[in-house]
Amino acid sequence: MELTHALQQIQPSYIREILRDAQAPGVISLAGGLPDGDHFPIALMEKSLASLAQNPALFQYGQTAGYGPLLDYFRSQFKLPEHHESLVCTGSQQALDLIARAYVNPSDKVVMEAPSYLGALQVFGLAQANIVSVSQQADGPNLAELEACFAEQSPKLFYAVPDFHNPTGVTWSLEVRQKVAQLCQQYKVTLIEDVPYRELRFTGEMLPLVSSFCPDQALVLRSYSKIATPGMRMGVVSGKSEWIAPLVKVKQSADLHSSIPMQAVLLDLITHPDFPSHIEKLRVLYQERYLSFAEQLQAKLPQGCHFNPVEGGMFVWLTLPECDDFALAKAALTNKVAVVPSSVFYKKGERITPGLRLNFTNATAEELVSAVERLVDVIKQECKTA
Ligand SMILES: Cc1ncc(COP(=O)(O)O)c(C=O)c1O
Repeated sequence: MELTHALQQIQPSYIREILRDAQAPGVISLAGGLPDGDHFPIALMEKSLASLAQNPALFQYGQTAGYGPLLDYFRSQFKLPEHHESLVCTGSQQALDLIARAYVNPSDKVVMEAPSYLGALQVFGLAQANIVSVSQQADGPNLAELEACFAEQSPKLFYAVPDFHNPTGVTWSLEVRQKVAQLCQQYKVTLIEDVPYRELRFTGEMLPLVSSFCPDQALVLRSYSKIATPGMRMGVVSGKSEWIAPLVKVKQSADLHSSIPMQAVLLDLITHPDFPSHIEKLRVLYQERYLSFAEQLQAKLPQGCHFNPVEGGMFVWLTLPECDDFALAKAALTNKVAVVPSSVFYKKGERITPGLRLNFTNATAEELVSAVERLVDVIKQECKTA
């Protein structure tokens, strides 16, 4: 059967494709955006999971918007104004898909930083959006480029990951946040603020959400994949009620609602008195891993390789001397270390800087040491000026 024209244009996700090879025995994976599985808060969920059997009502069909007590919690936790709502989604990835289906017609312009989150490139690609890239700097998008793009091209959406960006790890400065909010309001561009890594700050100061400066011009996507577990598939999108209502309508046709028992378990987990200390432990663990990883990279990488320090999240973005980073990633896998080449984070045909996205949260400190050694060997073989 012939695929839709839109799907024919979409490349399969390199990351999901290599996931099996990356999990083969002996391979150290720096490829996925995986949290550390040994630190899932399962103990904090045990009581809640056991009590599900005493609560058969949770297993009935539920409201599309989500489990009532969880929505009430979000309202107070996110300090939502009266005219805003939340919609619980099957991971924040679903929120992106619902937004594209509700709001993006073929050829509508969607602005993204380049490089960008692969899952968003896929969703907006499938919606046949016209993806317009702006370059990213150390403290966020290039503001001159962004303003020119808003003024000249009248895009509909600006998709952004301002905290510990995937793939680059960049966090926007306060000034950039305020300016982007002002530009979104001035040019009536809707900001899609995607913040799955926000709680994983291990140094520096937590900055306000960009949307806090333009609450009525934004939709905010939060995820519990990185701070609880990704397998629960729990995310939430919030914004003006008139913008959430169409998403509820699309979700009805997508999956009726997200799992109610899982939403009840999530609520018990995030209101558990020990949940804040669980997040704190994750921050400490990831900081330790990051610091030793960064030290190893600094000490062993050949000349011409570069990475900027990160203050949280899960990724280091390594730029490389001239090379074919796809071939390099393949060679690295043969050398039993899985990495993701930078090209997968750019839209097709875009000029790219050769590089790699390196995840530091899923391998132990010892594994990270070996991973750097294996990777450096391959970089020396594959990169021209190394
Ligand atoms: C920037 C970004 N947005 C969204 C997602 C999807 O998260 P979820 O597991 O909540 O669907 C990810 C997952 O890695 C991500 O990196």
